[in-house]
Amino acid sequence: MLNQVIAILNPQFGQKFIDCTLGGGGYSKAILERIGQDGQVLAIDIDGLAITNAKLNFKTEIKNKKLILAHENFKNLRIIAEKYFEEDIKFNGIVLDLGLSSAQLEDKHRGFSFNIPVAPLGMNFGEQIGETAENIINSRNAEDLAKIFKDYGEEKFAYKIALAIVNERQLNRIVTAGKLVEIIMNVAPKRFQSKIHPATKIFQALRIAVNQELENLQAVLPQAISLLKIGGKLIIISYHSLEDRIVKQYFKQESKDCLCPPIMPICRCGHKANLKILTHKILRPVEQEILKNPRSRSARLRAVYKII
Ligand SMILES: C[S@@+](CC[C@H](N)C(=O)[O-])C[C@H]1O[C@@H](n2cnc3c(N)ncnc32)[C@H](O)[C@@H]1O
Repeated sequence: MLNQVIAILNPQFGQKFIDCTLGGGGYSKAILERIGQDGQVLAIDIDGLAITNAKLNFKTEIKNKKLILAHENFKNLRIIAEKYFEEDIKFNGIVLDLGLSSAQLEDKHRGFSFNIPVAPLGMNFGEQIGETAENIINSRNAEDLAKIFKDYGEEKFAYKIALAIVNERQLNRIVTAGKLVEIIMNVAPKRFQSKIHPATKIFQALRIAVNQELENLQAVLPQAISLLKIGGKLIIISYHSLEDRIVKQYFKQESKDCLCPPIMPICRCGHKANLKILTHKILRPVEQEILKNPRSRSARLRAVYKII
C-alpha cells in the first residue's frame, strides 16, 4: 500500500519519520527519496536479516545519517527514539506495516509457511524472541493450545486440532511445518478443506503467540502518538481482524473528548481527544497491487493525525 502511505505521509524536505517495520525497505526508500539531505528516517526491524539487507541497500543514506537502522522490537519505540535522537524526538510521521515480510514467509528455515513441509517450526520474526512454535506445540496442554488457536486464529476446530497435536506428540515430537499440516488436515472436515487452506488459521495463531504480536501492537500505539509532532501522522497497516480491532478501538478512543460511560451526567475522566481520524473507511490495496502481490489482499490501512 505504498502509494496510499506516501500520499498520507506527504513527506517534505527536512522532515523526520519512523518506519517501525523496515522489512524489505520499500516504505523507508520511498520516504528517503522525498525528504532531501536534511530529512531523516529511523527504520526499525526485529529481524537481523532485514537490517543486514538494508545496510547493503542504503549505504549512502546510512553514511549521510539520513537513515538510522535499529535492530529492535518496536514495542520499545520510545526508548529506541530517545537512543538515536537525543534532543528532538518529535516526528512528522510514523508507519507500521504489521506482520511478516515476503522474505520471511518464503524462508525455508523459518517455518512461517504451510507450503514448505521441511521447514522447522520456528516462526520467530527476530532472534530476540525466545519461544518457538515448536516449543509451544510440544509443551502446552490441549486447553492452552486450543485457547491460542481460538484467540489468535479464530479457529473453529481449535480443541479438536489441539487434541490431535497432543496425541501425535506422545508418539513423536512435532518438528516440521509439514507434520503440523498433516495433523490439521486429518482433523479438518472436508467442507472446511475446500475454502482456505486448513492450516492458515493455526499457522497465524502460532505466529501471533510466538511473536507476541498483539501485545507489541498495544504497547506501541501510545508511544507512537507521544512521538508525533502536532499534525504528525500515524499509519498502521494490519493483515487480520485481531490487529485491526486493536487499532480501530485505540484510534476511536483517542479521538474522543470524554470516555465516561454514557450514564454519567457530567464528564469525570477529563480525557481530551488528541487524534483526528483520517480514514473513516479503512483503505484497501488497489486491484493492481493485489494482482502483483496476492498477500496484500488482506491489508487494511488506518491513519490518524495528532491534534494536541
Ligand atoms: C510486512 S513486513 C514490512 C514490509 C515493509 N513495509 C517493506 O516495505 O518491505 C513487516 C516487518 O516487520 C517486522 N516486525 C514485526 N514485528 C516487529 C516488532 N515487534 N518489532 C520490530 N519489527 C517487527 C518483521 O520482521 C518484518 O520485517
